[in-house]
Amino acid sequence: MKFYITTPLYYVNAEPHIGHTYTTVAADCLARFYRMKGYDVFFLTGTDEHGQKIYESAKKEGLDPGELADKVSEVFKNMWKKLNISYDRFIRTTEEKHKEVVKNVFKKLLENGDLYKGEYKGFYCVYCESYVNIEKEGENICPDCKRPVKEISETSYFFRLSKYQRQLENLVETTEIVKPEFRKNEVLNFIKKGLTDLSITRKNVVWGIESPTEEKYTIYVWFDALLNYLSGIGYLYNNELFEKYWSPDVQLIGKDIMRFHHIIWPALLFALGLPQPKIIFAHGWWISGKEKISKSKGNIIDPKYYIEEYGVDPFRFFLLREIPFGLDGEFSEENFKKRYNSDLVNDLGNLLNRTLNLIDKKFNGFLPDVKSDENIINFCENVYENYSERMKKILLSDAIEEIWKLVIYLNKYLDEKSPWRENSVKAEETIVSTFYGLRNLLIFLKPFIPETSEKMIEMMGLEKKEIDKFENFRIIYPGRIKIGKREILFYRKK
Ligand code: ME8
Ligand code: MG
Repeated sequence: MKFYITTPLYYVNAEPHIGHTYTTVAADCLARFYRMKGYDVFFLTGTDEHGQKIYESAKKEGLDPGELADKVSEVFKNMWKKLNISYDRFIRTTEEKHKEVVKNVFKKLLENGDLYKGEYKGFYCVYCESYVNIEKEGENICPDCKRPVKEISETSYFFRLSKYQRQLENLVETTEIVKPEFRKNEVLNFIKKGLTDLSITRKNVVWGIESPTEEKYTIYVWFDALLNYLSGIGYLYNNELFEKYWSPDVQLIGKDIMRFHHIIWPALLFALGLPQPKIIFAHGWWISGKEKISKSKGNIIDPKYYIEEYGVDPFRFFLLREIPFGLDGEFSEENFKKRYNSDLVNDLGNLLNRTLNLIDKKFNGFLPDVKSDENIINFCENVYENYSERMKKILLSDAIEEIWKLVIYLNKYLDEKSPWRENSVKAEETIVSTFYGLRNLLIFLKPFIPETSEKMIEMMGLEKKEIDKFENFRIIYPGRIKIGKREILFYRKK
């Protein structure tokens, strides 16, 4: 039972914005979920540090590209620390180990006849680090990002992408590799239009990995970067690790880099004779003012503001709850605040407060020693099943929705039973049942809001480790628990 999950490697030309945090928080949530299910998880993320784009960004800042990469990769690491990202490895493409793997893969493909020398004549978009076809003669504009492109003409090594056309078609048609499902046709159509071989070296780019050929070329940055998913778990140098985890169970990407991941990447794996990833899930974009949020558009949303103003977990929660995973969504503080106040302050925060207040006032801070209502036990079983099913399909927002059914149920249950009334019947049972439901709720929510779950569990008088595993959710506490010290976690925002 292993689970290998990856994020894209982010470029070090800019600090992490909301988009980068989105993919990484989602991957973290899945990694935590599978760990709690008892899987042996390997979670890989990191930074993409080579290429012309990084080189030019560094020059603009008056830095060596290596200095820029050191600086910005550190900023990414700090952000992940802040957001409680539980990665197992942070890979940098400038690491020696990675560079060796890239060179060795290059050699391997050359020996197998999957690479050949030719002449590249065409256009290149530095921003996308991509060879592009322009749409209108004379208008040298990138079809994807609409920036000016460069015309180049140079000798180069080509990867025989066209050779894998049939295999790719078949892979996309018959497996789950392209997710969400509605993106499948887009990928298939692109393949069916015909694939051309891909230039994988650059002649006049200095910042990158050198080709292991006699005459020196710089290896194309995407060829370099994609191979991190192999080098990150020991391919060609740590066989034990590699054998244990290969192939990826889930690879998360944004829809902007589908072609690289749904076409070039699997083709490289075919060429290397390696098993394919099970799922490569392309999520949607966070939009602001009708445009994709990105540094170059100047519509960046800085995660730091939201983390400071609302907290780490509300930020994680909003990202994963607000829009169905796979679709685009508008980011605004107004929406953020609404979600925060209604879900976290009203629903979850209140449920905890009411429950603990009751135990405090009515039972002197001790949980009564009676059995839980069977209805609640069954309800939890159901929620767990539906929630798990959504998580396995990477429907993260839907998964929270399933969990929220329990929040709503428990709040209503308390309202109806009103155990605070003098004459309420079975007040003990009501409070124990709510306590049991709430504890389970915090287990289910832990992959999304780990810190909050742990803090709340301590307020309930339980230990953090009791919510490390999903299997614990069926444990019903006998005996008398004394509830812990309380604090308000979520303050209402005006
Ligand atoms: O493409 N909404 O790196 P990158 C949602 N180095 N997600 C977003 C987003 C937005 N507005 N903006 C960025 C690269 N992302 C390459 C990848 S992988 C071998 C090499 C997220 O820094 C999303 O995951 O441009 C997207 O695919 C990724 O950041 C692009 O990051
Ligand atoms: Mg980008």
